[in-house]
Amino acid sequence: MNAILIKNTSRFFQETFGTTAEKTVLSPGRINIIGEHIDYNDGYVLPAAIDKIICFAFEKNNSNQSRIIAIDLNDEFEINLADPIELTDNMWTNYLRGVLKQLKLKGFKVEGFNCVFSSTIPVGSGLSSSAALECGFLFGLNELFNLNIKPVDIALMGQSAEHWVGINCGIMDQFSSVMGLENKVIKIDCRTLEYEYHNADFNDYSLILFDSNVKHTLMTSAYNERREQCEEGIAIVKNNFPEVTSFRDCTEQHIIELKDVMSAAVYKRSLYVVKEINRVILACDALDKGDIETLGKLMFETHEGLSTDYEVSCAELDMIVDTLKKEEAVIGSRLMGGGFGGCTINLIKKGHEDRIKKQLSALYFETFGIELKIYDVKIGNGTSLYKNN
Ligand code: GLA
Repeated sequence: MNAILIKNTSRFFQETFGTTAEKTVLSPGRINIIGEHIDYNDGYVLPAAIDKIICFAFEKNNSNQSRIIAIDLNDEFEINLADPIELTDNMWTNYLRGVLKQLKLKGFKVEGFNCVFSSTIPVGSGLSSSAALECGFLFGLNELFNLNIKPVDIALMGQSAEHWVGINCGIMDQFSSVMGLENKVIKIDCRTLEYEYHNADFNDYSLILFDSNVKHTLMTSAYNERREQCEEGIAIVKNNFPEVTSFRDCTEQHIIELKDVMSAAVYKRSLYVVKEINRVILACDALDKGDIETLGKLMFETHEGLSTDYEVSCAELDMIVDTLKKEEAVIGSRLMGGGFGGCTINLIKKGHEDRIKKQLSALYFETFGIELKIYDVKIGNGTSLYKNN
């Protein structure tokens, strides 16, 4: 599928500009095995890049004017890099404007260029198409203009672009899009940005994503609100226990003792965060030992916490996880990413995938009148130049 994507992107470039692209970049979406909503709470996360990607093609055009075309949207914009960069009503363009703004703020010299891109990452499914967009675009400009930006800084600048657009996200999505490695999950320490690769070996189980195909609520405001509640929570903890510097140093007992001085929401969010930070450590050990049953159990617990305490689930996601919990062949299932819709990530015993896909799709459609989407993902490499260049 990606070979076709690359071919079509290159052909489109050639037909539009009459030249062969100078640089072709592939930038992946991501999954997250466990560690949700804790990247901005100094926790560990366990994501991986996937084989759903955005393909970009670039060339310099020796002018001040840059032209950027989203092939799939049949839409484009032009930007004069000498002009101030502002947010617009056209959302997809803002992620790219945000990247250009970051480059300007940091004093990098970028001249006019042409860029086209096309994608196999579903949008709004919690697979971080926006991180792939920011990081792939920045990676390409870095190559085109020899800016010498280091990979981790590409991720950080991508994150800043996302903040500028309005989501006060953590670093997980951009980091995994840039730093992913085939068949490896990345354990990221979001406090220090240290990271290590672990084998993504799930033994007898297949990793499958079920996409609820819904998107509820104003994700941006709900996300930012969760983040503020966590900031309030940790501030209260620090006031009462000066030895604690972040949620990483907190025990459940710390939070429980502060129940009366926290609002109900802040209490629940804080308790979830402390538990989830511990779950990731246990889950990573279980993965290393090949104890996929324990990993799966922890995933179910994460879902429970996200649904009850963090309150970022919805009826559709709960239904998927509740249904799969009753299946002996499913040992782990939880909502993945920001929540309020998008995907669940599931570990299904090999040999049972087709039956479960069929049964769940039918039940899901019967319950909500919505088509369930299914992705069999492979763990792939992070953002990279396509080898033809
Ligand atoms: C979104 C954000 C990430 C992370 C997840 C939840 O994907 O972009 O930084 O917070 O939600 O884990």
